[in-house]
Amino acid sequence: MYGRIIGSGAYLPARRLDNHELERMVDTSDEWIRARTGIVRRAIAAEGEYTSDLAEAAAREAIAASGVSLSQIDLIIVATTTPDLVFPSTATLVQHRLGIRGCPAFDIQAVCAGFIYALDVVDKYMRSGACRCALVIGAETFSRIVDWTDRTTCVLFGDGAGAMVIKSDDEPGILSTHVHADGAYKELLWVPVGVSTGNAEVEAGRAFTRMKGNEVFRWAVTAMSDIAVEALRHNGLSIEDLDWLVPHQANVRIIQAIGKRLRLPPEKVVVTVAEHGNTSAASVPLAFDTAVRDGRFKHGDLILLEGFGGGFTWGSALIRY
Ligand code: UT7
Repeated sequence: MYGRIIGSGAYLPARRLDNHELERMVDTSDEWIRARTGIVRRAIAAEGEYTSDLAEAAAREAIAASGVSLSQIDLIIVATTTPDLVFPSTATLVQHRLGIRGCPAFDIQAVCAGFIYALDVVDKYMRSGACRCALVIGAETFSRIVDWTDRTTCVLFGDGAGAMVIKSDDEPGILSTHVHADGAYKELLWVPVGVSTGNAEVEAGRAFTRMKGNEVFRWAVTAMSDIAVEALRHNGLSIEDLDWLVPHQANVRIIQAIGKRLRLPPEKVVVTVAEHGNTSAASVPLAFDTAVRDGRFKHGDLILLEGFGGGFTWGSALIRY
């Protein structure tokens, strides 16, 4: 059995922070942000609005789109770097809010590649017959781990959630997943404190994202180009067979560079970074749902999803829609 995506959903917090507002917060400009990143605005969660709230809203939309009943869901995975609590997992919080009991529910932490990692796990559950209907969510309140005085990072990130309902089917669905990690690059993109290493810093609200943007940029382009080739080769397909690329939305220049390397026409690449910024684990399902809802994806389309993030972690999922 394979996993087939039968519904998707998304949620963005109501508040939008645009580049002009950022001009008043740090030494930056709308021109610089647009030219260097393609970002125009991003959503920011309200005070008291948590990752589980975003995740639940996206999940309810995906479930409604799929037509499945809540009782059919037998696996819940939330990819997030910004869980509500140290524990229990955001997945169990969402499970409870949805009134589902008993099925496995857990979080995956692979930063911006988290949703692809979650698809990789779901694919394995489906193929082994261990699950028949999975709810997979990427949700972040990334704004909570951004230093709003650091212009090199604060202009990049946003909050949001995207979700998919994936049902087992005798036809794919998910054709393949490939995930990778290399922990040698920890310090290029990280939050240098955590529960075990520095709770005081966390409590003081100083758990912030640090990034060597240039180096991450180069890595992201190479890794996301290479995994596209890896996924297509694995399935005996070529770039001409691909209908859509849904890459991680970090920077429009990264996305353009990948398209160029792959010789993929720009109109086949889904780009939402202008409106969402980089929403980490939520970015791929948010972009996917955008293209579903505007009618771009047609039944039978071949779609490649790609993520890249801290660790480094990276991966792809090739699907037949
Ligand atoms: O989600 C995981 C993946 N994350 C990413 O993929 C992010 C990857 N990196 C990037 O997207 C880009 O590297 C950035 C957008 C972060 C930076 O763009 P860049 O073209 O690599 O710029 P840079 O870091 O080389 O900086 C160029 C200049 C510097 O000034 P000097 O040293 O040339 O005088 C920066 O200080 O731009 C300056 N700068 C800014 N200026 C205005 C950096 N941030 C800003 C800013 N506004 N917000």
